[in-house]
Amino acid sequence: MAFIFKNLPADRDDLRVDVLSGLASSPKSIPPKYFYDDAGCRLFEAICRQPEYVLCRTEQALMAARMPDIAAAIGPVDCIVEPGAGECAKVRLLLDTLHPTHLVVMDIAGAPLAAAAEPLSRDYPDLAVTALGMDFIHDLEAAMPYLPAGRRLLYYPGSSIGNFPPDAATALLARFRLLAGAEGQLLIGFDLKKDPQRLHAAYNDAAGVTAAFNLNLLERLNRELGADFVTARFRHYAFYNPSAGRIEMHLVSLVEQDVNVAGQCFHFALGETLHTEYSYKFRCDEFSAIAKTAGWQRSAEWEHDGFAIQLYG
Ligand code: TRP
Repeated sequence: MAFIFKNLPADRDDLRVDVLSGLASSPKSIPPKYFYDDAGCRLFEAICRQPEYVLCRTEQALMAARMPDIAAAIGPVDCIVEPGAGECAKVRLLLDTLHPTHLVVMDIAGAPLAAAAEPLSRDYPDLAVTALGMDFIHDLEAAMPYLPAGRRLLYYPGSSIGNFPPDAATALLARFRLLAGAEGQLLIGFDLKKDPQRLHAAYNDAAGVTAAFNLNLLERLNRELGADFVTARFRHYAFYNPSAGRIEMHLVSLVEQDVNVAGQCFHFALGETLHTEYSYKFRCDEFSAIAKTAGWQRSAEWEHDGFAIQLYG
């Protein structure tokens, strides 16, 4: 049925401004949302197929196995809203069972999102699909005018919430609360604390896809900001930090070097790190406490093999 695609560009020169300020800070860091250029999106999908990275498969198996329960707990829904929907594969299970009239998907990678969302409007003839190419972290509220009235379900799978430090995660969940509206619900998937060796392996796959994904960030800066990073002079380094409860992903400088980015020179000492991402892991109650601070009450939860899905209202 109806398909709408809108690009809602950010109102400022995000990449350049954010990268320059991240490289000027100490320790150096770059916001993880910049992983997702075309090459980054393809590498990310490849990560999800690696044998060590079971997170996506576990979540989908859990959803499929418990769908009757999940659907009964959710009840009737008019509109499903998915921030960071990527290739729009996961939401199909919910569409098949909940039969909403509207689907609103958002992603910072607008063109791949449009290509993935358009077929949904053909496969589900009674569904109105709206795809928004936008940075929902920066500007979630810009999606508001595209949401129809009625019961909304915010869907945030894949443990993406773990990619935000606790304060930012709470703030994002509070903004989801406002977007969902008074009758709104949130269905969210997150990775649980578990054997650190299993966690470590998931972010250090033998084929090196996660490493390539991490290093692609530097290649993107070379392509888009005229930077001169030599990727062989940086090492993908990801590890589980149990006291902080998170995977930390870094690019560590293997030599002392200077790098030029958008006309500015940045010095890297030997061994200096450029931090690129966190992936926080939770216990179920720990997560509910965070969500509660953001205004959500847990109504149900499902768990399988180190992964949890929770429903909030
Ligand atoms: N949010 C998921 C996670 O933290 C997926 C993900 C985001 C990811 N960035 C990643 C996986 C980088 C591997 C590497 O696991």
